[in-house]
Amino acid sequence: MPVLTRELGIDLGTVNMVIAEGNQILLQEPTTVAIVIEEQKMVEWGQAAKDMDGRVPDIIEVVRPLRNGVIAEYEITEKLLGYIIKKICGPMLIFRPVAMITAPYGITSVETRAVHEAGLGAGCREVTLIQQPLAAAIGVDLPIATPTGNMIVYLGGGTNQAAVLAMHGIVVAETARTGGLALDDAIISYVRRKFGVIIGQPTAEQLKIKIGAAIPQEMQQVMEVQGQDQVSGLPKPVHLTTDDIVEALQEPLTDMVAVARRVLERTPPELISDIIDRGVAICGGGALLRGVDKYLTKALGIPAYLVDNPLTCTAQGAARALGMREILRRSLIRL
Ligand SMILES: Nc1ncnc2c1ncn2[C@@H]1O[C@H](COP(=O)(O)OP(=O)(O)OP(=O)(O)O)[C@@H](O)[C@H]1O
Ligand SMILES: [Mg+2]
Repeated sequence: MPVLTRELGIDLGTVNMVIAEGNQILLQEPTTVAIVIEEQKMVEWGQAAKDMDGRVPDIIEVVRPLRNGVIAEYEITEKLLGYIIKKICGPMLIFRPVAMITAPYGITSVETRAVHEAGLGAGCREVTLIQQPLAAAIGVDLPIATPTGNMIVYLGGGTNQAAVLAMHGIVVAETARTGGLALDDAIISYVRRKFGVIIGQPTAEQLKIKIGAAIPQEMQQVMEVQGQDQVSGLPKPVHLTTDDIVEALQEPLTDMVAVARRVLERTPPELISDIIDRGVAICGGGALLRGVDKYLTKALGIPAYLVDNPLTCTAQGAARALGMREILRRSLIRL
């Protein structure tokens, strides 16, 4: 008999949304929606909506409905999730799916309830919530079933999270409500300060991804971007190098390290020695920043390494957690 109930792992991120079933990725799109303001009608979503950012007439607004990992625009989030769930499970939703949705470590009960309700409102039959560092640890196969200490640093778009896990649970963790978008902001400020030129967030993100790094690189890359002169308001091109981006990113990177440091300070010594042996796993889109592993290794004094699937591990872990609900009982988010 075919399995009629779909079991979905949904990673609802500030910047990207990933849905997995088993180990398979069903969807990976920016968490962005374009809406007609007057009717509050969704006209585009995902990559197509992200591509419209900064290029739309007044009547349309391009929105990221999540901010720092939590729902900021409830109705838009529910609409988006509902649309996607129908796309995956069929428009009639005869068999409504069961979902494990991820949320940042340590969010408030009001924020938790919003995620839960958005999942149900979107058509899920049952919604369970899992903390993102735990889902990510499952998704990258860290041996969290054992009493050994495992550490994960999660560099998202709107959050930075660090956690130490053992025995299927989080021992110590912390979330900072800042992430990859803050790196983009730091690049925007740097370009304004150094060249008197204003650039937008999409351009700053491109600079970060294409030529950026956390530490100076042997190979300097250069990129020319178009900005707007701060004084005249006229278009002005600027040339930026890898070194420029490294310099621009130092401040937000220091904040990122501080989160991991504070978690280590609160970790029991027995677990610290395990972590030194095993290393620190880095995941989330920020893990893809060149040299971030070396940067963290140096700053923490513990080897840090990039996982194989930094962008999808959280959704894959959430999907897998659906089959582990009994073992994870105490670690899943209570409502
Ligand atoms: N190659 C890269 N170098 C640097 N940063 C990158 C790279 N690729 C993606 N990113 C950044 O990763 C971030 C998105 O990561 P991710 O998808 O893990 O976040 P999210 O899950 O949406 O956010 P959160 O979990 O904080 O709510 C963006 O800020 C993006 O710019
Ligand atoms: Mg995320």
